[in-house]
Amino acid sequence: MADAKTPWGGRFTGTPGEFQQRFGASLGVDARLYAEDIAGSIAHARMLAKQGVISAEDASSIEAGLLGILRDIEAGEFAFDYADEDIHMAVEGELTRRIGDAGKRLHTGRSRNDQVATDTRLHAKREALRLLDANTRLRVVLVHLAEEHEGVVMPGYTHLQKAQPVLFGHHMLAYFWMLTRDAKRLRAAYDAADVLPLGSAALAGTTFPLDRAAVADELGFASVSANSLDAVSDRDFLVDLTYACALGMVHLSRLAEELIVWSTEEFGFITMDDAWSTGSSIMPQKKNPDFAELVRGKAGRVVGDLTALLVTLKALPLAYNKDMQEDKEPAFDAIDTLADALTAAEGMLSTMRVNAARMAEGARGGFMAATDLADYLAAHGMPFREAHEVVGKLVLACEREGRTLQQLTAAELAAASPVFGEDALAAVDIATVVSRRTTEGGTAPVRVAEQLAAASAALVADERWIAETAGE
Ligand code: ARG
Repeated sequence: MADAKTPWGGRFTGTPGEFQQRFGASLGVDARLYAEDIAGSIAHARMLAKQGVISAEDASSIEAGLLGILRDIEAGEFAFDYADEDIHMAVEGELTRRIGDAGKRLHTGRSRNDQVATDTRLHAKREALRLLDANTRLRVVLVHLAEEHEGVVMPGYTHLQKAQPVLFGHHMLAYFWMLTRDAKRLRAAYDAADVLPLGSAALAGTTFPLDRAAVADELGFASVSANSLDAVSDRDFLVDLTYACALGMVHLSRLAEELIVWSTEEFGFITMDDAWSTGSSIMPQKKNPDFAELVRGKAGRVVGDLTALLVTLKALPLAYNKDMQEDKEPAFDAIDTLADALTAAEGMLSTMRVNAARMAEGARGGFMAATDLADYLAAHGMPFREAHEVVGKLVLACEREGRTLQQLTAAELAAASPVFGEDALAAVDIATVVSRRTTEGGTAPVRVAEQLAAASAALVADERWIAETAGE
């Protein structure tokens, strides 16, 4: 490694050794912010020129130099020198090597403290949009599944024990709404990041006549920060984004768990596509849901990322502290992991085979019409607690005799309770059980059709927000 290149040589007689350079550096992680760093510097330079702080010539040579660096980085022709501490110093150092003295004027009225906060906010906004896009694509698949398998009945579970039959579409839409809340959290994180810290300088503001509103406008920030101390030490927006990622991963881990269980021979509700399955190196028959398992497993990492970030910020005194350099690794990991998990979930759901017959078969077992028999009695005047008991005894008898509720005769029902009429048997028909759950948000086909319409409308609204926000 080359000698440390620091811009504070004036005050120092010694230089840090290799260990200190490596330990103190963040370039390996924050090089990812190059585009935001360059955009922020161009906006800052333009504003400095407009305010008469630097000359127009210097500003345009800064801009041209920065755009050249951007081009080289994007073309893969920029050799990062890891003797540079971070992306800010790497870009500024290279700029000065390329354009000379004008490059040394760029940092006027600015500190890396407001610079890194600005870069990170720009990046958080961009990544929130990327995640929203992936989230929306997965929600489109969930809606398609609900539409495509309209009318398919499956067992609904509580405690992973058969409870009441539900529509497969209803089950898919449950994840749709979960993911819709994730989208809302991602939008909130976007808004939290949408404040410009630049102009706060190191911590107290600057003596130069900066036009912060102009910079905010140019960089697409909705507002400027109100307090310079807070602006350079605030990473709440990253916590918001990482939290949105963590809960998003928790949701996907639940979906993944169901895919794993459903694809077992015991359930057989779905067949995972070969492209989303792996085999075994020893057992020739195996087809494993590795990708679903990884989605489930990676949720733990992202919860850890959120914890790491929160604990890094805990008890930090105002204003900037170098601890805050540790904010990016967990946040970036959370973002990338959620983005990949959304892609994996989309891939698995859009290619899996739905085995409607196995689901229907499952829905016939487990005495899942028991509540409906009790409801019948309660609707005919018997207190529900008594009805529960009558039906409980019927279930016990059926279980002993190896029969289903559907195999009971009208006479047997009447013997269990005189309240059962001839029409009581209709109550145990599985299609009827589903279609009678017509409460708002219930699983009856009419309600699920309404839900589908609401889901489609929510998707359109979110897609419009993303397009408008990305186009700003
Ligand atoms: N690499 C630093 C970070 O990510 C940039 C800000 C450094 N500021 C400073 N005063 N050392 O936090």
